Parts: sequence; structure tokens; C-alpha cells
Amino acid sequence: DWNMPDYVNEAIEKVRAQVGSDEVILGLSGGVDSSVVAALLHKAIGSQLTCVFVDNGLLRLNEGEMVMQMFARNLGVKVIHVDATEQFMGHLKGVSDPEAKRKIIGREFVEVFQAEAAKLPNAKWLAQGTIYPDVIESAGAKTGKAHAIKSHHNVGGLPDTLNLKLLEPLRELFKDEVRELGVALGLPHEMVYRHPFPGPGLGVRILGEVKKDYADLLRRADAIFIDELRAADWYDKTSQAFAVFLPVKSVGVMGDGRTYEYVVALRAVQTQDFMTAHWAELPHSLLGKVSNRIINEVRGINRVVYDISGKPPATIEWE
Ligand code: XMP
Repeated sequence: DWNMPDYVNEAIEKVRAQVGSDEVILGLSGGVDSSVVAALLHKAIGSQLTCVFVDNGLLRLNEGEMVMQMFARNLGVKVIHVDATEQFMGHLKGVSDPEAKRKIIGREFVEVFQAEAAKLPNAKWLAQGTIYPDVIESAGAKTGKAHAIKSHHNVGGLPDTLNLKLLEPLRELFKDEVRELGVALGLPHEMVYRHPFPGPGLGVRILGEVKKDYADLLRRADAIFIDELRAADWYDKTSQAFAVFLPVKSVGVMGDGRTYEYVVALRAVQTQDFMTAHWAELPHSLLGKVSNRIINEVRGINRVVYDISGKPPATIEWE
């Protein structure tokens, strides 16, 4: 008979028994799994935990601010905030192939993380937010995108090169149990029930070459979409929702003048397992409001379209 408060205590005791007085490093992304690991480890071992938050320039609006607010300021977790935007943008320059972009983002993450870990020579453990479905997934042979999902998600390659022992306290849990654990540890509902966000982030939501200017526009458009979904009580009714930046220009009118600016596509899907998905039948009034706000508030975008493609044949992400 599964009881969450007992489970929390057991999980804390297990971590303490495992790591003793050793120091632990955790890559904190702002996603559900690493956030729950951070909250659990902080409760279990306090200042023996150091989190590394890498801003690759491809995160959602105010993500770094949110992570620092929640973990560093509210909970008192040690968090090293690394702004590596320039490094990521530099390596992505001129690259438009989706898989090449994924590889670069994954590789640079490992680079940045290793450099930070090297500054913590006393650390003996690398904590990861691996959950039960990840364990099963990596047992099967994977190719292409699925492999990229796994390898970036679990920060493949890190343990070998860092010579750290792996600490995976969520290894036996399903996603819904991870969420319950997060709530029991005091994390806000809004954080624990966030939609999944891919490891390569906005890198696969900016079609073709990634540029900082594009990322800045996309972040603002995406934040408006998510705000309005929440306000209309549609966020929890969708499995994933986001904006995509299309680097094509179309003509518009504003006042007496013509504009010639970029397009943003909105994507919202409903799915059980992310293997197949339906596009969400959002109310037209909601779509209209989001479109108006984006066009009025985000200078540089003059057209918004809604993606009505199912998976299959379309994927959820555009790259
Ligand atoms: P697709 O686009 O293939 O995506 O329908 C299915 C789910 O996987 C996520 N996704 C990724 N997650 N790294 C990740 O961590 C990736 O490279 C990646 N590509 C897709 C996607 O957001 C969706 O939830």
C-alpha cells in the first residue's frame, strides 16, 4: 500500500545512506524531473548538494530567473547559474540541420557541465532525474531522434568522463509518481505539472539556423501563448503547447504602412504517450486573443498560424 509521506521519508533515508557525507552535483534544468531531484536531495543532504543550471540561450522566457528564485532564493539550494548563451550560439552559427543542431546542443551542454564540475573536486556523485520509463527506454535499441531524446535527456556520457558515481533517486518512479513526490516535497503545482520541454529547447523550435534574435522573439511569443492558455484553463487540458519560429517573412499592414516580418506557428497537442497525438481543438476566441497579443506585443512578428497536424504523420516538434 503506497503512501506518499512514508515514501518521502524512505527516499530521504535511502539517499542519506547512499551518499553519507559525500558531495553531489546535479544538472538542474527547470524541468519536472531534475526539479524533484533537487528538492529531494536538498531535503536529504542540504548543503552537500550543488546544482548547475546551464542557460544555453534556448530556454523559455525567464526560465533562469524562475529557477534561481525557486531553488536558490526560496529553498536555499546551492545553484551555480551559468550563462552559456554566447558559446551555444557561436557553435550553432550556420547550422540548419535538425540532428546536427541537437548534437551540438548536447555536446556543448556536456562541455559546460564538465567545466563546472571540475570546479567541484570534492564531488563524488552525479545526480540525475532518470525515471522508470527512461530506464526501460534505454534498454531497447534506439535510433535517430529517439536516441537523441534519450542521450540528451539523461546527459549521456557525463558519468564516464567525470568519474562520478550515479545517483538516480527517481529510477523506480513513473511520471505521475514523480509529480506526486514533487508536491509532497513542497514544489508548486504549476512547476510539477509543467508540460515537457525538449533538451534542445528552442533550438528545435526555431526552424533552420538558430539566432539569438529569433530566440528572443520566440520566447516572448511562447510566453504569451502559455499565459493565455493558463488564463483560459486550457494548459492542463493540453499535453504540450508552444510556439514555433518560422524564418520566413510575409507582408502585413500596420497603420498607413506595410510590414514585412516573421511568422510564428502555435502548436498544442493532446496525447497519452507522445507517440501519437491530436492537435488540440482550442477555442477560436482563445486563438484569436493569442494571435492579437503576439502581433501587437512582439514587434518583428506580423502573422500567427495554428498547426492542425496530427502525429503521425507530423511530429509534435517541428524539427
Ligand atoms: P516528436 O517531435 O518526435 O516528440 O513528436 C515527442 C516528444 O519528445 C520530445 N522531444 C525531445 N525531447 N530531446 C528531448 O529531450 C529531443 O531531442 C527531443 N525531440 C523531441 C518532444 O518535445 C515531445 O514531447
